[in-house]
Amino acid sequence: MTAQPALTQPTFVQPIPTLRREGDQVLVLDQTLLPFRTETRTLRTLADAAHAIRSMQVRGAPLIGATAAYGVALALLHEGSEDAALGRALQVLGATRPTAVNLHWALARMARRLRPLARAERLDAAWAEAEAIRADDAATCDAIGRHGLAIIERIASRRPGPVRLMTHCNAGWLATCGAGTALAPIYAAQAAGIAVEVFVSETRPRNQGLLTEWELRAAGVPHTLIADNAAGLLLMQGEVDMVITGADRIAANGDTANKVGTYLKALAAQAAAVPFYIAAPHSTLDFACPDGRAIPIEDRGADEVCVLRGLADDGTLAEVRLAPASTRAANPAFDITPAALISGIVTERGIAAAGELATLYPEAAR
Ligand code: MRU
Repeated sequence: MTAQPALTQPTFVQPIPTLRREGDQVLVLDQTLLPFRTETRTLRTLADAAHAIRSMQVRGAPLIGATAAYGVALALLHEGSEDAALGRALQVLGATRPTAVNLHWALARMARRLRPLARAERLDAAWAEAEAIRADDAATCDAIGRHGLAIIERIASRRPGPVRLMTHCNAGWLATCGAGTALAPIYAAQAAGIAVEVFVSETRPRNQGLLTEWELRAAGVPHTLIADNAAGLLLMQGEVDMVITGADRIAANGDTANKVGTYLKALAAQAAAVPFYIAAPHSTLDFACPDGRAIPIEDRGADEVCVLRGLADDGTLAEVRLAPASTRAANPAFDITPAALISGIVTERGIAAAGELATLYPEAAR
């Protein structure tokens, strides 16, 4: 375990801001249109913010949390700063998505800051606290990148050729207010001149791997898109040096919820003796949750499994039905990777074994 407490100013600049305040509005990059269109949505109200999170216009655990914080400010702006309005905002935003604990972490931080204040002070304080959460996330991502870089450097020093990584879902800049979590070490390696190659799994059913592919292509990081089910073979064939993914909630014992399919990669990585790392900020740690069985898993409904979205020949975004509407389909959006399968968790304070995060965060674990 290595510990490094201080966070410095972030060095990574997002190519397009995922989230920013403009006066009394909040602008977000609409991720439901990527990788084909880059359009910004304007959030004006609490309902807009809740819809953006629920519909996955914004997604990724840290970005969901930051958006919810700005949603509280929008609620106070239009619905007043009374306790009832604040309570309603916290309740509405808290019900948008269940698994990523960053959402509840951000709302709890907003409540702690705002509840003791006089009503007249709450709106300004809400904007300031949301901005602090955004800035904190950007700095946190940079620090995760620095710690994760040490692992990539170690692998690079042991074998010739590029370091071959595999990731799942999207834990890049799109999922955060900064460089990302799992992709931050990869961007740091690229900046340090270390050659890397990334296997990107498409991540059915919402295909967030295509967002990762889009990010890496724009950044000039060599990568290959694979079907989710190809991961096991590539790991078995010795094509991968390290797997790294993000997380949506990490329980006290180190069990980790992340995008569905992560667990299968961890199993295959262990069978192939390939290190499997999780990268996550403090806002993803849930010390009140004893183990993975207590983590709520979002079910997003059959349509995401049975309907494919993509680009039609005429350049419009189109939907194609893969299975009849009457098809019975289950759609758990996350799975749990047991701590025993995780080689280490890369945080902004350093790297710890899963289940030993309390050594890095003694104040939170108490
Ligand atoms: O459903 P999503 O797209 O919000 O899920 C995202 C993930 O599972 C990410 O891996 C996780 O949130 C970490 S993002 C830094």
